[in-house]
Amino acid sequence: MQISVVSEVADGEKRIAVSPDMVKKYSALGFSVVVEKGAGQGSSWPDDMFSEAGATLSDDRSGLIANGDIILSVQALPHYDHAHAKKGAIALSILNPFGDPDGIKGYAKAGITSFAMEFMPRISRAQSMDVLSSQANLAGYKSVLDATEYYGRAMPMMMTAAGTIAPARVFIMGAGVAGLQAIATAKRLGAIVSATDVRPATKEQVESLGGTFVMVEDEETKAAETAGGYAKEMSDEYKAKQAALIAETIAKQDIVITTALIPGRPAPVLVTDAMIQTMKPGSVIVDMAVETGGNVEGSALGKITEKHGVIIIGHKNIPSRLAADASALYAKNLFNFLSPFVDGEGNLTFDFEDELVSGTLVTKDGAIVHERLKEEG
Ligand code: NAI
Repeated sequence: MQISVVSEVADGEKRIAVSPDMVKKYSALGFSVVVEKGAGQGSSWPDDMFSEAGATLSDDRSGLIANGDIILSVQALPHYDHAHAKKGAIALSILNPFGDPDGIKGYAKAGITSFAMEFMPRISRAQSMDVLSSQANLAGYKSVLDATEYYGRAMPMMMTAAGTIAPARVFIMGAGVAGLQAIATAKRLGAIVSATDVRPATKEQVESLGGTFVMVEDEETKAAETAGGYAKEMSDEYKAKQAALIAETIAKQDIVITTALIPGRPAPVLVTDAMIQTMKPGSVIVDMAVETGGNVEGSALGKITEKHGVIIIGHKNIPSRLAADASALYAKNLFNFLSPFVDGEGNLTFDFEDELVSGTLVTKDGAIVHERLKEEG
């Protein structure tokens, strides 16, 4: 079977869905791997690294797609690619079906068997295939470095002959995968770190990294976590209590990093304009949720803005800002998902009863088959 790996076409997307190391692994399983020319450039993998690893390079994108039994990409394939794919071709990507419902209709119409890797169930067996985790972890790290770039002061305490520099106070909102890595990174840089979340389970995790936990705990938070480990949308009453506590905390911070997401819904607004006004001039906010509406009032997608003397960073696609590592981990996630279904001769046969397969499968035989998407229409 042929694995075809395309160049990403989305603006600013530097990642690629295969690494030279994974080319070797796929080849050892009996696949032939064809990579679009130049696709690895953004991850510092020139074409010759792929050919040395055993891949064929192609500059004929439509031919590459037409011959692919398995098509790997980071983001969804654009519409114009769909018509070239074979009926029944398997396509893996971060499909973003809620953000782009028309995109998946295109996949269905073309008869592509598509998988949304971000739907991977959060169970231990799937940890090594979890693209949200692998990418969010890197993004959490990078968000702290991005903040330091715009923060006109130092992070650690420094006692010098000319005087003492106070450590920065960093507040992380949302202590999931990205948030925990942000806490660890800010701690390593010497900041005083605190964090908040609606899931009480995160308290211990924050404290184990040396952060202080700040949270409104009430009856509602006992059920704030879904069976899948995600946060639920909270009531208006809870949000008001949370806002009061956050307002008090935020006024004392130098850097705030927000990571709060609710799958399939707009991100909750956690930092209001009134809160920003209470921060010191020169403070920095990084809104990691800016792509799904934002946690910060007034943050702008893909832009750095300033409000009341506070700098608000709204970078798009943070994992792509660390493309080499993000691609390497993403490529490994895909390999870990596919390889258990491969026989010794490069033939892939999915077990559609397996919850990892049924949980991520979005289109098959011309139809949208994922329960969550059928329900949402
Ligand atoms: P996420 O990216 O969906 O959300 C980020 C964080 O924001 C979460 O911790 C969430 O609780 C928090 N949040 C949502 N609304 C909030 C609000 N109004 N105020 C404050 N915080 C809010 O979450 P992520 O990072 O994907 O992790 C979700 C959970 O899944 C975690 O418990 C993680 O440990 C678990 N997980 C399990 C895996 C596995 O077993 N295979 C793999 C990866 C994560």
